[in-house]
Amino acid sequence: MAIAFLNGDFMPLEEARISPMDRGFLFGDGIYEVIPAHQGKAVGLQAHLQRLNDGLQAIGIANPMNIKQWESLVNELVGRNSTALEADYVGVYLHVSRGTVMTRAHGFPDDVPPTVFAYGFAIAAPPVPQAAGVKGLHVALSRDLRWERCHIKSTSLLGNVLHFQDGKAQGKQETILVNASDEVTEASSCNVFAVINGEIVTPPLDHQLLPGITRQLIIKSLARAGITVTERVVTKAELLAAQEVWLSSSSKEITPVLSIGDSPVADGTPGPVWQQAITIFNQHKYDL
Ligand code: PDD
Repeated sequence: MAIAFLNGDFMPLEEARISPMDRGFLFGDGIYEVIPAHQGKAVGLQAHLQRLNDGLQAIGIANPMNIKQWESLVNELVGRNSTALEADYVGVYLHVSRGTVMTRAHGFPDDVPPTVFAYGFAIAAPPVPQAAGVKGLHVALSRDLRWERCHIKSTSLLGNVLHFQDGKAQGKQETILVNASDEVTEASSCNVFAVINGEIVTPPLDHQLLPGITRQLIIKSLARAGITVTERVVTKAELLAAQEVWLSSSSKEITPVLSIGDSPVADGTPGPVWQQAITIFNQHKYDL
């Protein structure tokens, strides 16, 4: 049984309870993080905690803990859940909502302490750098219909959920999104990279996409190996003609996309640039 943390106490996940009047439940009014840990080592911990702080600031919730306290909470949950779940690979979910109210009203309440919830769960081992050993993804392509604050890691995920489900209904494992100008934003729960004319490109950070921590770690680790990732607009036409397409997230790391809709990506197998990128990423991911 997974171990959870709720407002100061550790407990078995199935015993964790919050009020239905929590604004996280009523309004999706909160911020979350998902942090992967491999054999006890969290990946990108400082960057995740920084983004959590940025998100809380963006929506006007005072961060209920300092960085040291978050760090020790994450490490404690990694340790407890690795043991409880007998798992070498663990994800830690952190969730801060605006707290519990007794009257449902849109405006922010005064003097209500945020709800802090966290728990650990087993995740799949990250992809190995051999084409034969990786499960590539078949994805759908949709017009991005979410809101204009996608840079905030909000718990209001209905837009993302509906896009993911659209893909699932088509037998796909993710959905890549393009805006009204046919520019790639991201996928429903991942960032997007493409290899175009031999160059690795990814859409630039703005309000249309989440500043993914894995995205950041990929750019930094490749830079250490002297490889540049160009952050620029990627059009739908470029995506469909790309030599390689990858998705990145804390749980997927860098996973190759094998087809988009009915079109295979190149020959429909993981490409050599992906193989090189995941190898370099694995060398640096614990010390970035
Ligand atoms: N998803 N874009 C969106 C919309 C996401 O939800 C995520 C992460 C990412 C990748 O971010 P990162 O590399 O920091 O994980 C991009 C998480 C894992 C989730 O919702 O479960």
